[in-house]
Amino acid sequence: MCVGLGAVSTTFITGVLMTRKGLAKPVGSMTQYDKIRVGRGKDKKYLHYGEIVPLASLDDMVFGAWDVYPANAYESAVEAEVLKAKDIEPVRDELLAIRPMKAAFDRKYASRLDGDNVKDCATRREMVEALREDIRRFKKENDCDRIVVIWAASTEIYVPVDETVHGSLAAFEKALDANDTDRIAPSMCYAYAALLEGAPFIMGAPNTTVDIPAMWELAEKTKMPIAGKDFKTGQTLVKSGFAPIIGTRCLGLNGWFSTNILGNRDGLVLDEPANFHTKEVSKLSTLESILTPEEQPDLYADYYHKVRINYYPPRGDNKEGWDNIDIFGWMGYPMQIKINFLCRDSILAAPLVLDLVLLTDLAARKGRFGTQRFLSFFLKSPMHNYEEGEIPVNHLFKQYVMLKNAIREMGGYEADEEID
Ligand SMILES: NC(=O)c1ccc[n+]([C@@H]2O[C@H](COP(=O)([O-])OP(=O)(O)OC[C@H]3O[C@@H](n4cnc5c(N)ncnc54)[C@H](O)[C@@H]3O)[C@@H](O)[C@H]2O)c1
Repeated sequence: MCVGLGAVSTTFITGVLMTRKGLAKPVGSMTQYDKIRVGRGKDKKYLHYGEIVPLASLDDMVFGAWDVYPANAYESAVEAEVLKAKDIEPVRDELLAIRPMKAAFDRKYASRLDGDNVKDCATRREMVEALREDIRRFKKENDCDRIVVIWAASTEIYVPVDETVHGSLAAFEKALDANDTDRIAPSMCYAYAALLEGAPFIMGAPNTTVDIPAMWELAEKTKMPIAGKDFKTGQTLVKSGFAPIIGTRCLGLNGWFSTNILGNRDGLVLDEPANFHTKEVSKLSTLESILTPEEQPDLYADYYHKVRINYYPPRGDNKEGWDNIDIFGWMGYPMQIKINFLCRDSILAAPLVLDLVLLTDLAARKGRFGTQRFLSFFLKSPMHNYEEGEIPVNHLFKQYVMLKNAIREMGGYEADEEID
């Protein structure tokens, strides 16, 4: 069940439906393409994820969604202009049937949106109850064994973690009852409802939603997996893959400036400073844990890191990102690296949605609950226990080792760090 039926969700759903019909390939999806080595030495073999662990098949999936706008998945996919008509029309009927349920929404959290497909709830408690009812009804009507809820809705304004509300489940529930609309975002109502209904919850935007001790506690209590936050698609994927080049060769860094232009609805919402701040916090965290001044003060003390997103309608979903990296080498001599990524936002995000959904569902069946660190590979700002000073792993290749080892372990093989 997708929260938000915009560009990312419709690109994901359309792609799965087209793949099922043999009319498209799920390129970029690790669960559909990647192979992992299991065993060592002469016993080693390379297997697809589905050959190691019992992943749900694409044929077994049904899709539901909530959105602030009433457009069905077909209308929304056409409007998003990510996919060409030839890639939408063959599954038109399936898409027409996916009509969004009314959203749990509060305009205070995304003032640029003004749709009317919104629940009429007087309190946050009512929102939670209405969402629980939606999940139960969807599950029954579609005869589903299991549900996964993924947030692919707009980025909400930044909600700083407040110990008195987010610090424990008891405090959170008290605030729910007191209808604290300033500190309980609608996204938190979705997550709370999903976990109580026995569904894992994934946060694809940078919202703090499940990245708070109250939700960690609820996930433990309900024995449900949670994952987040923020899909690692374009610029941050490049950053978390490129920064290790600098770090591994012990080159220095003076500054890293990242900017990009995009013109989809996501860009419109992020044009609002309060919403952009949520994204900025998420994007900035990547570099700081890969190139650390504590470990290499000569190389990484005081580098300047800036991230900018600019709303530019003509580009639609086709984001263009520029990175200017000021590095220095032998005896401190400066050099520059420029990266210009002409990407497609939703084309990069769709396979991540599929992988996150299948792997979170798998984790739940394997009895894993709480924050799923092995999914950090897919996320820009991986959740970690900041209360205990845990440092998140942002290094793309270390994240890949974590992913592979979790799959090996869930498949009954030994985790290892051999070079493949
Ligand atoms: N595409 C990427 O590369 C990428 C990467 C990282 C994160 N994200 C995040 O994924 C999210 C989705 O991106 P998109 O391009 O599909 O955006 P979009 O604007 O096309 O779709 C988001 C949809 O969510 C709906 N929505 C907003 N609040 C809602 C609520 N409370 N309940 C239900 N629906 C709600 C909006 O009406 C909209 O239709 C954004 O938060 C974006 O920041 C995208």
